[in-house]
Amino acid sequence: MSQPKRSTVLEPSEALRALLAKIANREARIGIIGQGYVGLPLAVVMAEAGFDVTGYDVAEEKVAQLNEGTSYIGDIDNSRLSAQLGAGLYRARSTFEDLGERDVISICVPTPLSKTRDPDISYIVQASEDVARSLRPGQLIVLESTTYPGTTEELVLPIFEKTGLKVGIDYFLCFSPERVDPGNPRFDIRNTPRLMGGITSNCINAGASMYGSFLEQVVQMSSTQAAEMAKLLENTFRAVNIGLVNEVALMCKKLGLESWEVIDAAATKPFGFMKFYPGPGLGGHCIPVDPHYLSWILKTLNYTARFVELASEVNTSMPTYVTELVTEALNAHKKPVNGSKVVVLGIAYKANVSDVRESPALDVIELLREKGAEVVYHDPYVPDVRLGHGTQTSEALTDDLLSSADCVVITAKHSSIDWRRVAALAPAIVDTRNATQGIEAPKASIYKL
Ligand SMILES: NC(=O)c1ccc[n+]([C@@H]2O[C@H](COP(=O)([O-])OP(=O)(O)OC[C@H]3O[C@@H](n4cnc5c(N)ncnc54)[C@H](O)[C@@H]3O)[C@@H](O)[C@H]2O)c1
Repeated sequence: MSQPKRSTVLEPSEALRALLAKIANREARIGIIGQGYVGLPLAVVMAEAGFDVTGYDVAEEKVAQLNEGTSYIGDIDNSRLSAQLGAGLYRARSTFEDLGERDVISICVPTPLSKTRDPDISYIVQASEDVARSLRPGQLIVLESTTYPGTTEELVLPIFEKTGLKVGIDYFLCFSPERVDPGNPRFDIRNTPRLMGGITSNCINAGASMYGSFLEQVVQMSSTQAAEMAKLLENTFRAVNIGLVNEVALMCKKLGLESWEVIDAAATKPFGFMKFYPGPGLGGHCIPVDPHYLSWILKTLNYTARFVELASEVNTSMPTYVTELVTEALNAHKKPVNGSKVVVLGIAYKANVSDVRESPALDVIELLREKGAEVVYHDPYVPDVRLGHGTQTSEALTDDLLSSADCVVITAKHSSIDWRRVAALAPAIVDTRNATQGIEAPKASIYKL
């Protein structure tokens, strides 16, 4: 049996001592590659901690927007961004030639799936090559993008090794997964414990010192692979549990029960149960995608990640199930889907965010359109969205919109929507989020998951 991987132990080097001193004195200059949901909040938090931060992004329009003080990330309001721009501690760049001046570089680029649903690690390769071009002694590079175990050591490290510099002696390489939960009012970057794996003991020392200087807790791990796997476990855990409750919802429907009541009842047990709720399917950049990174790497080792596959099968079937509920709700009014007006409420992948990546609401819209429904949507966070047939814009949530609908489908429970008004006016409701819990709907039967 092979032994678990461990970081190589090295004596502290001169370059490490110099870097630790810069970190301790807040003199380390930071570069963050990728200024999206992960990279921008990290950049602002590091600047707020007193570091000089440059955010790099290939998207020139984003860079221009950021330099004007306009944030497109809900968790970072314009005033926080502008304060750091004004203090001269943050600026955004779309060119990479000054990366060599940065002492610490965090890579926060996307890790999507390819068309064949295999990991697309081209963004990590590109960013690593950009770093390698000006890699110099004394730099710390931290990969934050979610990826399969082995990426940091087997993909990123060889790109840096081509420079002839020695990892753990000249420069330092770590993997530290971002765990941010956009829109979470309780946990943010600072108070969410941070995992850190390093290629060598000096790497982890550098990484833990850097992140420990502005975060509450850094959990040091034995290897980059263990840190990569821990992140995939976290997100696979969610995908599998959501798959389980989605199947519970299907089973409850067959048994004539309401899944929400059953789940809340089970959750009164104070130990051994963790509450997850059903929904129209998985959404966001992480939960629908990351488990496939795990199943992909295991396929290369001739192993099938069975829970991942099964959860994916159940979760991806949910939009179709939602359209079946719409059909049932319309049927009760002797209406066909074809020609009916369906209003979809909330198309972001979850409540109170603007992110529509992988949002199951988009699949629900497309499926209903394929069946001939006239589908419009309202989402206070998403003014317009690109769909298969073109760009669609959010409708104002007027009384007329609600009462003129043949069916209203609730796919995100945004707290700014008055669900009592929705329940009072809509003639038929499919509620995939239990937004109408405890609310009377005088005109409509409410179909829940
Ligand atoms: N969004 C989340 O909630 C979340 C949470 C935890 C982890 N993650 C992981 O973090 C990583 C980044 O996710 P995100 O949500 O921030 O993605 P994002 O799409 O919001 O942002 C990525 C940014 O990187 C830029 N970019 C792409 N290639 C680049 C390159 N070569 N150089 C510079 N910039 C480049 C893009 O233009 C984009 O602005 C992913 O691996 C994701 O799985 C995301």
